[in-house]
Amino acid sequence: MLRWLPGDDPRSLQKTFGPVIITGPKRSDLLRGFAPAAAAALAFLLVFGLLGGWILAGRMLAPLTRIAYAARMAANGSLSHRIRMKGRQDEFRGLADVFDTMLEQLESHVAEQQRFAANASHELRTPLAISRTLLDAARNDPTRDQGELIERLHTVNTRAINLTEGLLLLSRADRRSFPREPVDLSLIAEEAAETLLPLAEKRQITLDVTGETTQTIGSTALILRMVTNLVQNAIVHNLPAGGTVTVHTEPQHDASVLRVENTGHPLPSELVPTLTEPFQRGTERIRTDEHAGVGLGLAIVHSIVRAHDGTLDLTPRPTGGLIVTIRLPGTPPQERGLSTC
Ligand SMILES: Nc1ncnc2c1ncn2[C@@H]1O[C@H](COP(=O)(O)OP(=O)(O)OP(=O)(O)O)[C@@H](O)[C@H]1O
Ligand SMILES: [Mg+2]
Repeated sequence: MLRWLPGDDPRSLQKTFGPVIITGPKRSDLLRGFAPAAAAALAFLLVFGLLGGWILAGRMLAPLTRIAYAARMAANGSLSHRIRMKGRQDEFRGLADVFDTMLEQLESHVAEQQRFAANASHELRTPLAISRTLLDAARNDPTRDQGELIERLHTVNTRAINLTEGLLLLSRADRRSFPREPVDLSLIAEEAAETLLPLAEKRQITLDVTGETTQTIGSTALILRMVTNLVQNAIVHNLPAGGTVTVHTEPQHDASVLRVENTGHPLPSELVPTLTEPFQRGTERIRTDEHAGVGLGLAIVHSIVRAHDGTLDLTPRPTGGLIVTIRLPGTPPQERGLSTC
């Protein structure tokens, strides 16, 4: 058997065995045989790759399309649309959930603003409408008592001014643009009680200020307004006579606490959380008729507490009346040192 190894010289073979013909597949044969199959395989891989990529990208990006749709709807003013994405908890689901929460908060904020604007317009229109009615009545009947008319117009006008001032104060506290300084809550409590003592005496209410010195950082004017509103509420929404009001201040861990507690009619527990909403007044049965407040007192208190990074807690007393607890951030020791300088 003849064996030709790659190192052998073909000429030596030729010499020994005569002409040698080496046969095998030609290049063109190879090309003809494999090219169509290779092209078909390539085409298949290309189509498969493109199709697979397209389907995969579609599946991967579908959540983004839904999020983009919700964002477009929100941009066009529809805040009620939600993504509500189902499936496993991945990054897209997390993003969609955060987006839904943001939309929910935006929607409730816008609804609150609309309610506020509607209530404010209504409340501002009321004194104007009453003034017009009084003036019309005076014009139609010149013999009417002018003194009484002026007195009633004065009352209505004062109410309108109080309302406008309340609204201005609310927006000032919400903007948080006020200078901050160390404030002693116990001194503020005493000042508020002193101012309102004549009102308490007139209504036969016992007003006590107890507790210790406790400091916070904030606007003295706003904090005084906050405490005054609370003490005034505690007096006017109390029993018709013989009620009590206690204003207590104390430091607690790193907070300054103010508590205003008063006797009064029992408050329905479902009503209490709504009392801090602007223009929210107690039910007719609970309201004392002489005190026709506009319903901004507690909303202003809440807004001042928020602007000072504090918390407000309203608890109805089982025997009637209310306990209002405010926690404001306490003063760090170094600031306390500064304030005494
Ligand atoms: N200390 C309190 N004890 C019992 N009820 C209270 C007390 N404080 C507030 N309320 C109830 O909450 C309602 C809202 O209080 P808020 O101070 O906001 O308004 P107002 O006192 O009616 O009017 P305004 O303070 O604007 O003159 C009151 O109408 C009253 O029914
Ligand atoms: Mg009030």
